[in-house]
Amino acid sequence: MIIEPRMRGFICLTSHPKGCAQNVKNQIEYVQSKGLIDGAKKVLVIGASTGFGLASRITSAFGSNAGTIGVFFEKPPSEGKTASPGWYNSAAFEQEAQKAGLYAKSVNGDAFSNEIKKQTLDLIKADFGQVDLVIYSLASPVRQHPVTGVLHRSVLKPIGDVFTNKTVDFHTGNVSEISIAPCSGDDIENTVAVMGGEDWAMWINALKAENLLSPGAKTVAYSYIGPSLTEAVYRKGTIGRAKDHLEATAFSITESLKAIEGKAYVSVNKALVTQASSAIPVIPLYISLLYKVMKEEKIHEGCIEQIQRLFQDRLYNNITIPTDEKGRIRIDDWEMRADVQEKVAKLWLQATTDTLPEIGDLSGYKQDFLNLFGFGFEGVDYLADTNEMTGILSIS
Ligand code: NAI
Repeated sequence: MIIEPRMRGFICLTSHPKGCAQNVKNQIEYVQSKGLIDGAKKVLVIGASTGFGLASRITSAFGSNAGTIGVFFEKPPSEGKTASPGWYNSAAFEQEAQKAGLYAKSVNGDAFSNEIKKQTLDLIKADFGQVDLVIYSLASPVRQHPVTGVLHRSVLKPIGDVFTNKTVDFHTGNVSEISIAPCSGDDIENTVAVMGGEDWAMWINALKAENLLSPGAKTVAYSYIGPSLTEAVYRKGTIGRAKDHLEATAFSITESLKAIEGKAYVSVNKALVTQASSAIPVIPLYISLLYKVMKEEKIHEGCIEQIQRLFQDRLYNNITIPTDEKGRIRIDDWEMRADVQEKVAKLWLQATTDTLPEIGDLSGYKQDFLNLFGFGFEGVDYLADTNEMTGILSIS
């Protein structure tokens, strides 16, 4: 079939298998261009099919020749209907890993559930024995709690007051003012239940209980801080509470891994275009301005550049891993540079529908958004008849 992007607000209903494969190949090439990293050899990535998790899997495999097990929740294709992009990304990743002689297997299902944890643990037992790195990179709007059965829904809202600021509809470029009502009821608890650290700790406890973590094993989860511009809706909002919880969980996991000298870290990453971040009001406008400034300064990075730098310069640099005063690894260092933030803050004041094409990188934003679904890649013939039924080779 001929596959075209079909946009509906913050999502695209279609994705392109060849474009997703191109995306994976580009990321592999980037990692290989940076040379070998003396990193982990048996890696579990939870949330491995898109964004930072996919970049972590690619960096492990093609930067350190690691075998990888990837867990994700993606929709397979059916006749005439494309899969979700993470499905095609993972299919392409497995194909490339196989070509390179690298072990790669995947588990597709709800990582919050006991069943998927057990399936993954069984696979590790059978094929790996133990893992030496666990990346936790889930981003989900809902979580069914495996013990209580309660379905928690996360919300992206300010706490306490109505938040009013500028935002952009990145499809039309229209800049307008929006007001977001504060959270209410159990919104904070629910958001912490979905995006906080409880499930990360459950994974690590389950692995530890079955002796599946090698001595000195590391685990890393991803967080975000961002500037004061977005603080009310992000870091001081409901999602920020979840990130506080995730960051605190790193300490309790490290404590629980003392006997094997294991360590848990949170890495604070840069703001990037993903399905999740596109849906948060205000953030797309911030990202358009940030991209413009960081590209001008030649310090712009995507997921793969961020994660390759995390592995090479931070996690496996043979030195003590540098952290901030709260114990967090910072690869948002370039985003948060004072000169970058000053420029973004100035541009923010000037941003209108008329000025944005000039002062912001709206086209870069749109390009990245299309890329998430496998569209807009050079070297892909989007007019060609394409088989939508590409499958993952070794899905568990
Ligand atoms: P993403 O949406 O690209 O990836 C999410 C992954 O989680 C996918 O592999 C998806 O299949 C998987 N997933 C979702 N629900 C699942 C479930 N129930 N069971 C199994 N797998 C499931 O997200 P992104 O942006 O890469 O986010 C990953 C982490 O990085 C999150 O913790 C996010 O807060 C954090 N982060 C994101 C930033 C951004 O700007 N996008 C910035 C800094 C941190």
